[in-house]
Parts: sequence; C-alpha cells; structure tokens
Amino acid sequence: MKSVHVETDVPYEVTIGRGLLHAAGEWLAKLTPSRVAALISDETVAALYGDSVTQNLTQAGFHVHRFTFPAGEQNKTLVTYGRMLDFLAACQCTRADTVVALGGGVTGDMAGFAAATYLRGVRVVQLPTTLLAMVDSSVGGKTGIDLAAGKNLAGAFHQPSGVLCDPDTLATLPTDVLADGMAEAIKYGVLCDASLFEMLAGGMPAMDAMESIIQRCVAIKAGVCAEDECDRGQRQLLNLGHTFGHAIERCSDYQMPHGHAVAIGMVYVTRIAQRLGLCPADCVARLQAALAANGLPVAAPYTAEALAQAALGDKKRAGGTLTLVLPKAIGACVLYPVQVTELQALASIALEQ
Ligand SMILES: NC(=O)c1ccc[n+]([C@@H]2O[C@H](COP(=O)([O-])OP(=O)(O)OC[C@H]3O[C@@H](n4cnc5c(N)ncnc54)[C@H](O)[C@@H]3O)[C@@H](O)[C@H]2O)c1
Repeated sequence: MKSVHVETDVPYEVTIGRGLLHAAGEWLAKLTPSRVAALISDETVAALYGDSVTQNLTQAGFHVHRFTFPAGEQNKTLVTYGRMLDFLAACQCTRADTVVALGGGVTGDMAGFAAATYLRGVRVVQLPTTLLAMVDSSVGGKTGIDLAAGKNLAGAFHQPSGVLCDPDTLATLPTDVLADGMAEAIKYGVLCDASLFEMLAGGMPAMDAMESIIQRCVAIKAGVCAEDECDRGQRQLLNLGHTFGHAIERCSDYQMPHGHAVAIGMVYVTRIAQRLGLCPADCVARLQAALAANGLPVAAPYTAEALAQAALGDKKRAGGTLTLVLPKAIGACVLYPVQVTELQALASIALEQ
C-alpha cells in the first residue's frame, strides 16, 4: 500500500493499493463520524463494483443511499447534476454525511460538484476506477459539469476528504479507456519526471507496477496543486497537451476521447518547442514512440486553421493571450504565453512532419 499527502487548505491523503476497494468501509469510517453515505456511480461501474462497495460500507456501519446515472461524458450535464442534488435532498443527507464518488472522472467531477453545492458543501471522497481518475481527476479538487457551450464550464473547487485508489479495478477497463489514462501518466513524465517517462515508454506497464506509477503521478499533481490550489499560476503546467488536445476534441465533435486528444496535443506542442529551439531535436520522436507503444495516436486530420479556431474557445484564454505549455526536455516544461493571433502559425508548425 502506498500513499500521497496532498497539502491543500484542508489536507488529505490519497491511498493506493491493490484490493483496497474491499476495505472502503473501514477506510471511510476513519474519515468521518457520520454513518450515512451517498454512493454515486454510473451504471457500468455500479454493475461491476456497486454491490461490493455497498456491502463493505454497510458492514462498516454505514447506511448507504445509492444513485446511478447512465455512463458517459454526454451525461455530465445540468440534468444529471440536478437529479443528484434532488437525490441527496430526498435521502435527507445532512452536512455531516458523505458523498462517495465511485467511478471515472465523469462521476468524480459531477459527484464532487454536487457535494460542493448541496447544502453549500458536504464532504466528498473519491474512489476512482479509471486510470485517468486515479492519476488526475480525483486529486486537486476541480469538480464540475459540461454545458451546451462547452466542457467543464460550470464547477467549483472542492477538495475531497480522501481518495482511495484500487488498481485492481483497472482490470475491467476497456483498452482504449486505459490508454486514455496512460496519456495523462506520460504527461507527468514529460512535465517533470524523465524516469517516469522512461518507465512508461516501453508500453502498458504490468499491473504490479501500477501502484508505484499512480503514486508518482499523484505526487506530481499534489505538489503542483499544493502550490496553486485555485489554478492561477504553476497549475497551468498540468495543461501540457491540453490546449491543442481540447481543440482536437472540439474538432472531432467530442468523438475523440480526451486522453487520445491530449496525446496528440503533446506531440504538437513538442514539435513547436523543437522548432523554437527550446528542446532537443529527438523529443518529438521519443514522445511519439512512447505514445504509440501505449496504443495512443500521434496525429489528427484537422487543419491549422480549424485547430486555431477551436483553441479560441479554450476556457484558459485570458483576453488576447493563451498560455501554452512547452517542453524544454523530456522531464521539464515551461509556461509560454502566446497571442491568439499567433495561434494559427503555431498550429501550422505543430502539423509539420
Ligand atoms: N477534475 C479534474 O481535475 C479532471 C482532470 C482530468 C479529466 N477530468 C474529467 O474526467 C472525465 C474523463 O474521465 P474518465 O476517462 O475516467 O471517463 P468516465 O468516467 O466516463 O469513464 C470512462 C468509461 O469507463 C467506464 N468505467 C469506469 N471505471 C471502469 C472500470 N473499472 N471497469 C470498466 N469500466 C469502467 C465508465 O463507465 C465509462 O464508460 C472528463 O469529464 C474530464 O473532463 C477531470
């Protein structure tokens, strides 16, 4: 078993270990005196793990209320969020009780947002079941939902009281969903940990290695979030690959999964960095090889004009400026503000072969 301490305003632990989902009740009982839990998951995860987690929480003395919703990003909406709030009210959950988010990033973000806003804030714990949620979305306190105008446009910062990662749950993940998480793990390697990058460059790691990989990724995210809890400065580094990644997702009408788009977005910014002379000439080739070894794409069929146009909708844009994250090397990146008027030219460089 491994753990990472997250030193935000209200600190918490991320606990990582194979089989730990079977000890969720005991774990939660140590975090709260209340014995009421609202267990939220999508239908896929509920069918796989809902009963065993419920049984486990019940054995630890919890009264469990269950809420499920149809799986998928298309359900990360105001409507589902509204139903969640109504459910919490119907169960008469109080400020003392706990929302338990069991699932991937969609569940974690939406249940976290419901917890942030129901009664102006109740406790939430995260039990992530996708690699992306384990290494990224369950940590850092960003919660939210999508609006018709775009992804994650409504939300709140609400840190969990604890995160419990059981890598054994990754065994039931579809391969492309696992690959999405690998893209984010590789992102941390490129960002600040060359040895992590090397560990992942050979392809999908064995299950035995997952605990340490998740721990390293979470430690990196925790370190950045502790410095910049509300995303005003250095936390933007975590957006490596995301400006073009989000643009690619938008161009694909959200048919391309997030991690796949981020993988291509990382290749694009690395190519820009290489062309600007910021990073060594072999970085793009090393990154492409690592992504391909993990079943991830390295190119998308969209023009520079379409990418630049789509990137303008990025919620990170501040007036006429957008901050790219560019690698100086595999394992070190810098924030690089650009004018939106420069974007199309930079996108053209990104597409050069
Ligand atoms: N809050 C943050 O900081 C942050 C960071 C990154 C991404 N996100 C958000 O995370 C979301 C993406 O997360 P995701 O990729 O986990 O998506 P997801 O939650 O939709 O899960 C992907 C699919 O895998 C299924 N699934 C989950 N766990 C499973 C398991 N163990 N076995 C079998 N199937 C399983 C789900 O039912 C779903 O169909 C996006 O909405 C994104 O905006 C948030």
